[in-house]
Amino acid sequence: MSVVMLKDRAEAFESIDGLQEGGFRDAVLRGLALPQKMIPSRFFYDERGSELFEEITRLEVYYPTRSEMEIFDRHGADMGAYLPEARALVEFGSGSSLKIRAMLKAMPQLTHYAPIDISGEILTREAEALSADFRGLKVVPIHADFMSPVELPQELKDIGKLAFFPGSTIGNLEPYEALEFLTRVRETVGTGGHLLIGVDRKKDTETLVRAYDDPQGVTAAFNLNLLTRANRELDANFDLPSFIHEARYNADRGRIEMHLKSLKDQAVSIGDCHFEFTENETIHTENSYKYTPEEFRLLARAARFEPLATWTDTNERFGVYLLRSEG
Ligand SMILES: C[S@@+](CC[C@H](N)C(=O)[O-])C[C@H]1O[C@@H](n2cnc3c(N)ncnc32)[C@H](O)[C@@H]1O
Repeated sequence: MSVVMLKDRAEAFESIDGLQEGGFRDAVLRGLALPQKMIPSRFFYDERGSELFEEITRLEVYYPTRSEMEIFDRHGADMGAYLPEARALVEFGSGSSLKIRAMLKAMPQLTHYAPIDISGEILTREAEALSADFRGLKVVPIHADFMSPVELPQELKDIGKLAFFPGSTIGNLEPYEALEFLTRVRETVGTGGHLLIGVDRKKDTETLVRAYDDPQGVTAAFNLNLLTRANRELDANFDLPSFIHEARYNADRGRIEMHLKSLKDQAVSIGDCHFEFTENETIHTENSYKYTPEEFRLLARAARFEPLATWTDTNERFGVYLLRSEG
C-alpha cells in the first residue's frame, strides 16, 4: 500500500520520488515488452502533464470539463441538499481542484477535505490554495495511488463521508477495475456514506474523437509528454519527432483510445533495455470508457451502491451520479 501523508513541502518532494519513479520505470519496461505496447495513463501527470491537462480542459472541442462544470454550477445546491450529514469530502484524483470549489461552496456543512492524487506537485499546491481560500475547512492531502486501498487519517474515520470522483476519471479504468475501484470507495465511505461521480456518456464518434485530437495539438503534446518524461527520468532515447499522437473510438469496447504511433522502423533504449518499433506500431497510452446512464447505474449497483440521483448538462453529453453505499 503506497500512502504518503504530506506534512510539509520538503517531505512532499521526498515522497514523490519514492512513490513514482520506481513505478514508472517498471511500468514502462513491462508495458513495452507486451505484444501491444502500452504505458498506463496515470503516468501522464508529472508537473508538465498536469499543466497540459489543465490546458486541455479549456479547449473549445473538449466538452467534458465544460459540461461537468455546468452541472455542478447549476445543481450543486441540489446535490448538497441530499447530503446534510456529510462532514468529510474525499476526492480521488483531485488534480486542479476546479470542481471541488463549486462543491465546497454548496456544502458549508463540510469540516474536512481530503484530496488524493498521485501527482505530489499539484496536490501540495492545490491543498495550500484551498486552505487559504476556505478558512474553516481542514485540508488533509493524501499522496497515494488510488488503484490500491487508501487509508484515511484517523480524524476522518468516524464522520460522515462523501467521496468525490469527477472528471470521468473512472473512464480510464478497465470495467473490471472500475468495479473494484467502486467497491473500495464504498468500503472507504462506509454504510450510508455517499459517492458523487462524473461520467462521460456515449455519443457520436466525431464529437468524441475531436475532444481527444484538438486542432491546436494540446492533447498531442500531453500524450507525447510521456516520452519526454521517459527520456528525462528513465535514461530513455525516444526520438520525439518520429512519434505522433493518435485518438480512435473503439465502438465495440465503448472507449476512446489514445496511442503514440511510430512513424518508422526504429529502436529505442531505456537504460540497458532495447525495444524495436516497426513503422505504424503504437504504444497504447489511454482508454477513456464512455457509459450510457443505464450502463453506469448497472456498474454502480454491482459495487453495492444505490443510485439516488442523476444530473446532466443542457446538451446531455455528461452525467453526474449521486450514489449511496449499501454497506
Ligand atoms: C483527469 S484528472 C481529473 C482532475 C479533477 N478531479 C477534475 O475533475 O478536474 C485526473 C487526476 O487524477 C490523478 N490520478 C490519475 N490516476 C491516479 C491514480 N491511480 N491515483 C491517484 N491519482 C491519480 C491525476 O494526477 C490527475 O490529477
